[in-house]
Formats: sequence, structure tokens, C-alpha cells
Amino acid sequence: MKKILTFVLVLAFALSAIACAAPAATPAAEAPAAEAAAPAAEPAADAVKTYKVGVCIYKFDDNFMTLYRQELESYLKSLETDTVKYEVTVVDGKGDMAEQTNQVDTFLAQGVDVLIVNLVQSSSAATITDKAKAAGVPVVYINREPSADDMKAWDKICYVGADARQSGTYQGEIIASLPNKGDQNGDGVVSYVMIMGDPENVDAQYRTEFSIKALTDAGIKVEELFKQRGDWAQEKGQELAANALAQFGNKIDVIFCNNDGMALGAYQAIVAAGRTVGKDIYLVGVDALAECVQMVKDGTMTGTVLNDHIGQSHTAVDAAVKYIMGEPVETYLWVDYQKVA
Ligand code: GAL
Repeated sequence: MKKILTFVLVLAFALSAIACAAPAATPAAEAPAAEAAAPAAEPAADAVKTYKVGVCIYKFDDNFMTLYRQELESYLKSLETDTVKYEVTVVDGKGDMAEQTNQVDTFLAQGVDVLIVNLVQSSSAATITDKAKAAGVPVVYINREPSADDMKAWDKICYVGADARQSGTYQGEIIASLPNKGDQNGDGVVSYVMIMGDPENVDAQYRTEFSIKALTDAGIKVEELFKQRGDWAQEKGQELAANALAQFGNKIDVIFCNNDGMALGAYQAIVAAGRTVGKDIYLVGVDALAECVQMVKDGTMTGTVLNDHIGQSHTAVDAAVKYIMGEPVETYLWVDYQKVA
């Protein structure tokens, strides 16, 4: 029995080896039958269209933009079909505008179909638009809003972002809605520390302005003790909060951070200074990074604001695809923030 089985197996193996080794010898008449047996017909090579998408990120070393670019890439890939493919290349501007301009030049020389650009410097939008326009390549600007004038330069540029005024307002409202309205030491004034992102960026400007405006609009007296730029980075948030705590001690009621990265750093400084969030100091950020949402639940952060990287990245990709397909795109595409407190 064993011998028969071995013989059958050897025979089957030999026949399949012959079949694989001799495809050219298949008579033409048999070809349709062979095709019908194939699992799924591959589209003809010339029916598959591959579009090139160049993505420029201002800096890879940024918590929020890391989530954003990962989602952007995977969402774009998820839109591929049997006949439409996207070749997406994402590059790191390393916080250097000259480097990013070179990257744009390279993408244009490579013949990308569309660019998605998170500017290092918003004020360089005009330069990038000029280059893209000359090459006939549409641009979806993301996250760092160019000026209103720069957005009028061409009908094939758009901006996808969230209105930073809203995030600032939400931060202020989170503090204003506390039972003591943020005045932990009861001296009648909310004395605050402001840790800013890169001030060239409207997100930093508006969050700084509108968080405090929400307090004063609610009739709360405020005093600014300290305001410095932390460029969105955790280490700088820690360093600045530590300096402020050393300088102003118990006078500080609230530490406002323009983003969660810096708030994480500020939290370390608060703990090191022996202060307790929710008891003798308040701390707010923006982005709703997963660890900050958990801290809000645990009470170790007063609140944050969801900066919807999923909504924004999908909107940006949808706009890019419309440009590729030759469809019109609105100049501004906004995605809402949400309070997390
Ligand atoms: C903001 C975000 C920051 C930082 C910045 C970069 O919207 O809140 O965490 O990523 O964009 O431009």
C-alpha cells in the first residue's frame, strides 16, 4: 500500500514539473481553457494607471505629524483598485525650509501628479506654489496654513486644516468651566503660563490668543506670568515649565500648552516641582494624543482638544485624488476640533 502511495505521489510530482517546465509548448487551442482555469484575471498592464504622490512633512520628529503622515499614507493605499495604484513618497523636511524646497524640486523633476505639503515655513507657500504651478502640479497644503493672499495664487492649490481659533477657545472653556474657574489659589485672578509652539505657525498664534480670550469673554480676570516658545517639543515644554515653576511657584494657576507634546513635558516639570494637577495647578494641551486622553481620564491633565489627524489626512488625500482625476477642489477644507475634558 505504502509503495503504491509513494508511486502515485512521485507520478503526480513528475507530471506537475513537466507542466510547469513546458508552458511555451502549450498548443494554442488549449490556451483559452488554461486561462479559464486561472484564479482571477490580472488587468492588462496598460490598463493599470499608477499616480505619483509626493508628500512633504515639515519634520518627522513631531508626535502629531507622525500620526498624521502614517494615516495619510495608509488611507491613500486603501483607495487603490485593480486598475488605479498610488506610488506615494513621504519625505522629512527636518524643520529646514531650504531642504524642503529641494524636496519639492526633486518631486517635480520626477513628475509627481500631485503634492501634499506640510510647510516648514508657512511664509514660503508662494515659492512652492510658483514652482508647482510652473510644472502644472496641484498642491494640497496641510497643517500649516499659508496666508489668505498666498491661497489666491492658483486655483489648483487648497488648504486642509483645523481652525486653530477653535482649539484655543476650547482650551480656555475647559478652564472656565472648572468650579473655581481656574483660580486654584483663590486670589481672584487666573495667573497663567503659556508654552507656545512655533510662533510662525497660526496654530500657535491662535491657540495662544483664543485660549485667553475665552477666559476674558467669560468675565475671568487673567494675568500672564510667562510666555515662551517650545516649538511643539516635549523636552522644551519640560524645560520651560520647570523655569516658570521655579520663578513663579504657587502663583501659577494654569499652564497652557499649544500642544500635547509640550504638555507632556510640562507635566514632568509639574511633578518634579511637587505640584498636583487638578489640585493646585491646571494643565491643558491640544491634539488628544492617546496618552494625554488617558491622563485626562486619570485626572493628571485637566483637558486637551482633539486635533483630528484622521479626518484631516483623509480630507487631504481625497482632495489630492480629486486633483489627480481632474476634478475641482474647494480652496479651504476644514476639519473640526473636539473638546476632551
Ligand atoms: C499642530 C499640532 C502640533 C504640531 C504642529 C505642527 O496642529 O497641534 O502638535 O504637530 O501642528 O505644525
